Amino acid sequence: MNYKTLVCGLSTHVPGLYDRLVKFRNSSTGGASKSARYCYSVWLRHLVMAKENNLIEHPPEVVAEIGPGDTLGVGLAALLSGGKKYYALDVVPHASSSGNLTVLNDLVKLFHDREPIPNDIEWPRVFPKLKSYEFPESILNDDIVNAALKPERIAAIKNALTYPDRVSSDIEIKYFVPWINPDIICSDSVDLVLSQAVMEHIDNLNDAYAAVYRWLRTGGVMSMEIDFSNHVMADKWNEHWMYSDYVWDAIVWGKRPYPLNRQPHSIHISMCKKNNLKLVSDICQYNHTGISRNSIHKDFGWLSDEDLLIQNAFIQCIKAP
Ligand SMILES: C[S@@+](CC[C@H](N)C(=O)[O-])C[C@H]1O[C@@H](n2cnc3c(N)ncnc32)[C@H](O)[C@@H]1O
Repeated sequence: MNYKTLVCGLSTHVPGLYDRLVKFRNSSTGGASKSARYCYSVWLRHLVMAKENNLIEHPPEVVAEIGPGDTLGVGLAALLSGGKKYYALDVVPHASSSGNLTVLNDLVKLFHDREPIPNDIEWPRVFPKLKSYEFPESILNDDIVNAALKPERIAAIKNALTYPDRVSSDIEIKYFVPWINPDIICSDSVDLVLSQAVMEHIDNLNDAYAAVYRWLRTGGVMSMEIDFSNHVMADKWNEHWMYSDYVWDAIVWGKRPYPLNRQPHSIHISMCKKNNLKLVSDICQYNHTGISRNSIHKDFGWLSDEDLLIQNAFIQCIKAP
């Protein structure tokens, strides 16, 4: 373990220090969803991939997002693509009304201008990569975008953001924090459940994948980006598999909110299968610069050779009849 990892983990035990660090980096999640361009890029990547995999023909009407982070921007982008209902589920209330409204205004302009999808030069760490970063007119044609951006619709989205309990149009936004019981969303009601850099944090993965299955309507799509890297200051991206549970929990991760579950790619794939989510696409990004098998802790001896190399995965599944 290098000294930065040790100091950072231990610092979380000092009251107030971690909060100051969070303020310093201007994000409480370490994600980037305060940026409208990031949210636009993430949303359109999920949408384009779903279309490319023949999972959707039109933009989805009902979208649920697990772990939206600092704002609800990804879901707002879904509403600006013609969506009607957006459910956001998190464990910490990171998103604020003012942050959401700022991102919404910026997103409206991006859609209005049919801005190309912000690419790898702007967001080098965002996964999945696309073949083309042109505005995806094949799924978001002028009729759809013009209808979605009508002033009365933008006003309805603002209204739903500001007064989530007043239903005054067909637009609905719900922010569930914390979410524990999957009953908060009706069964068989959601067209698309997505997440970006979240599933690596979820403690009980089986319950989460079971909830996704339950929420999706038949033919509905699950679209998840999972970042398997260690998220803490460390020399190697997969160094988290070097530590016992005790050292990881007490020293390295410390008291940061929502831990890293350290589950590799193969576990997510088997959880999808176990929960009847039919795998349609599994795109992996390999990184050969991490620790090798002889450095991993004996508790992780079961990791496959592939698990040890997969740093990111983008998984799309369908709820088959
Ligand atoms: C690295 S941030 C990613 C945020 C955002 N998706 C992005 O791309 O910037 C991880 C997010 O997952 C959320 N999270 C962690 N555990 C969760 C859980 N069990 N259910 C829902 N969200 C969770 C965190 O609160 C945080 O918002």
